[in-house]
This record gives sequence, structure tokens and C-alpha cells, in this order.
Amino acid sequence: MNVLLIGGGGREHAIAEAIKRSRHDVKLYTAMSKRNPGIARLSEDVLLMKETEVERIKDYALEKGIELCFIGPEAPLAAGMTDQLEAGGVRVFGPTLDAARIEFDKAWTRNFMQEHKIKGNPHFKVFDRSQLREAHEFIDLLGDVVVKPAGLTGGKGVRVMGDHFRTLDDAKEYTDLVLEKDDVVIEERLVGEEFTLQAFSDGTHLSFAPAVQDHKRAYDGDRGPNTGGMGSYSDAGETLPFMNYYDLDAAREIMQETIDALKADGIIYKGLLYGQFMLTREGPKVIEFNARFGDPEAMNTLPLLNTDIIDIAEHVTTGKLNELDVSFKERASVCKYLVPEGYPEDPVTDTEIRITEPLGDALLFYSSVYEKDGKVYTTSSRAIALVGIAENIIEAEAIVEEAMHAIKGSLHARHDIGTEQLLQQRIDHMNQVRGR
Ligand code: AMP
Ligand code: GLY
Repeated sequence: MNVLLIGGGGREHAIAEAIKRSRHDVKLYTAMSKRNPGIARLSEDVLLMKETEVERIKDYALEKGIELCFIGPEAPLAAGMTDQLEAGGVRVFGPTLDAARIEFDKAWTRNFMQEHKIKGNPHFKVFDRSQLREAHEFIDLLGDVVVKPAGLTGGKGVRVMGDHFRTLDDAKEYTDLVLEKDDVVIEERLVGEEFTLQAFSDGTHLSFAPAVQDHKRAYDGDRGPNTGGMGSYSDAGETLPFMNYYDLDAAREIMQETIDALKADGIIYKGLLYGQFMLTREGPKVIEFNARFGDPEAMNTLPLLNTDIIDIAEHVTTGKLNELDVSFKERASVCKYLVPEGYPEDPVTDTEIRITEPLGDALLFYSSVYEKDGKVYTTSSRAIALVGIAENIIEAEAIVEEAMHAIKGSLHARHDIGTEQLLQQRIDHMNQVRGR
């Protein structure tokens, strides 16, 4: 079977590895903007192409006789890649444009959840540029606010009171700035612990992966600027140390109701649904949905997958996910990104990365690096991820830290992710939020 993967980051390297583990006879083709050496090694052929070039990637897929396509990042989804490939007769793991809207139109999603009475929305309102005064009044009313552009911003457009704003005037000033270009979503700041829940969806049925916690801030102790995600962990089993089964069930229910509501509106969501939640005193609330695997969360989840990913994709695209038993190993995972020094604000690019020793039990996923004359170099984004899988989080963390010694370059990582100390802090914080 000829399979096309679109995307060239760490998440896509993990997808490629899962595809290569399939019992089906798969030939993997990849379309990516930079040559990821890990993915290139697993691919029959590589198309170096901007991932939003829908027509050219479609031509490539038809020329190579592709039967099934996995779309990794959000940008091709937002460019309508799924619709175009499906029109060409290719089965696609990844939602169509009308379904992927759940990620790239935050205003639409909040309104959609409200209309369908789906739990998990914070207090929010959406404003356009003619409603400056109303937006300011709403900021005064809420006080503790988060301000988001309605469209896709690569996670960089969201500003939070206490983090980015000190005063209501700061929030209003940023609101005015957003309104020059886009609609704005103003919402209540949620307080608690964040977690990610990923589920395979065939439009009706969901199969859930274990919950994961990502770490957005650049430096240890959750300090420094927000990043694409510095690393993440999952526990042996389905929940996280600060979370119980009621919390997990409540989050699953929100995702199921969302898929049901989409279906009721005639939108069949096929692919991966990513729920980002804040576990608050009142239970899980939705921060946002994404229409794809998380990066780094895919690197926690996919290595634990027992079920053949090609079988999953076939059941997803034919609407028969309920006929497949999707299961994950009951093991913990820790993923840490090595990023260029200075990332995200002032990253040192084009420096060589060397792997000088064996990595022990750790898995390695290449992300935004490129290969030239057999050497690997940094770009301005996250470079290499290391993943440890073990009986518990602490052991998985140790596997990653051990392997990190083998990787040389102008690189930085968070050493606190998955440590006993940080896990305890998360548990203590959640207890405090719950008023215990
Ligand atoms: P997003 O791009 O929506 O993932 O937002 C980036 C980050 O902003 C999230 O990971 C959260 O840490 C934070 N954030 C977004 N919305 C809220 C909210 N309503 N309350 C608190 N934090 C939020
Ligand atoms: N880890 C955050 C994301 O994939 O959006």
C-alpha cells in the first residue's frame, strides 16, 4: 500500500515510525518543507514542498498512486488538503475543511459549543472591529481575562492576564491591536492544571489515547516565554498524577458531545481530535481543540500504541472505528525537546548537532532540523526530541536525561519535566485549586 505523510516535524517522525511498524506492506512517501533526516530515512521518496501547496501535493499523490494520506500539521488542513485529496480518490486521515475549523476558528468553536450546550466553555464573547467599546466593557466585567485572535496564530497570539498583561488597560490595548486584523475572543482566565486528550475519530466513535501534560514555557520552573511545547509526559494508564477518573470521563464526554454535535450539523470529523483542557475546580474546561496530533504529545502517544496505525486509519476513514480494539501499552512516557539556545525569541540557527554515543533505551525523533553533507543542523525551531518509555514517569525521565548526554550542540532543554519534584508541584497545585 502506498501511503503519503504530510509534514516534517517531530510529530510526523513519530507518525512515520508508527506507519513503518505496520504489519501491512507499506511504501511511505513524504511531503515536507525541510528534509527531516529521520523521516527521510523511513521514506521511499520525499517531496520537498511547502505543506500548504495543495495542488502540487495532490499531483504528487496521484502520480505515486497514494491510497492513504496522513496529514500531520494544521496548516495543510486549513488549506483544504483533505477535501482536495479526497476529491482525487485518496483516503485521508485528517479532517475536511469544515471539520478542521474547530482548530483554526476559535470564535466559531466557542459559539458552536455554546449553541449545542456542550459543557466546558469558559465565560466568553466574540467581538469584531465595530465593537471596540463593547469589548472593553467585557474586559472590565471579567477582569481576569484571556485575549485571543479568532484565527490560527501558531499558539503565539494568546495573551493571558497575569502572564502578559498586568492591567485591564494592557488587555484593552492588545484587544485593539488584534481587532485591526481579526475578530477577537475574550474569555475568562481558567485556573488549574492543563492536560491534553487525543482521540481517533471516525465521525461517530472516539478511541482515546492516554492523557498527556505538555510544558509550554521555555525554562525550568515554568518560567520564560511560551513555546510550541518543551516536553510532555503520560502515566502508565489513562490519567495523570493530578487527575482522577471522573475528570477524565468528563473530558471524554465533552469530546464525544462535540463530535456528536458536528455530526448533527452534517460534519463528519475523521482523523485525530485533540482536546486541550484546563482541569479547574469545577472539572475540565476546554482551552481549545486542535484537528491533529499534538507536538510533542504524539511522541508520547504513538510509541505506546498496540494497534496497527494503518488499521486505525482504515477504520477511521470508513466510519467503523467501533469495530477495532484500539489499545495502548500501560507504560509511562516522558518526552523532552532539545531546542536551539535562545529559542523561542532569539534562537541560534544553522549550528551542527552531533550524536556522540548510543542513546540507550531512549527514542529519538527529529524535528525542525536539516541535513547537509551528512551532518544535521538546527533551524530556529525545536530540534530533536528524546522519549523514554518505562514502568513509571520517574524511570522514563531518567532514560531521557541519560540519553541527553549523547547529544552535542548549542542546545537547551528543560530538565524538570517528568521529575518527582515537578509532579508533586502539579499535584499540590491541583489540591490547592480544588480547595483541599
Ligand atoms: P492556545 O493557543 O489556545 O493553546 O493557548 C496558549 C496557552 O494560553 C494555553 O496553553 C494556555 O496555557 C493559555 N490559555 C489559553 N486560553 C486560556 C484560558 N481561557 N485560561 C487560561 N489559560 C489559557
Ligand atoms: N502541544 C501543543 C500543540 O500541539 O498544539
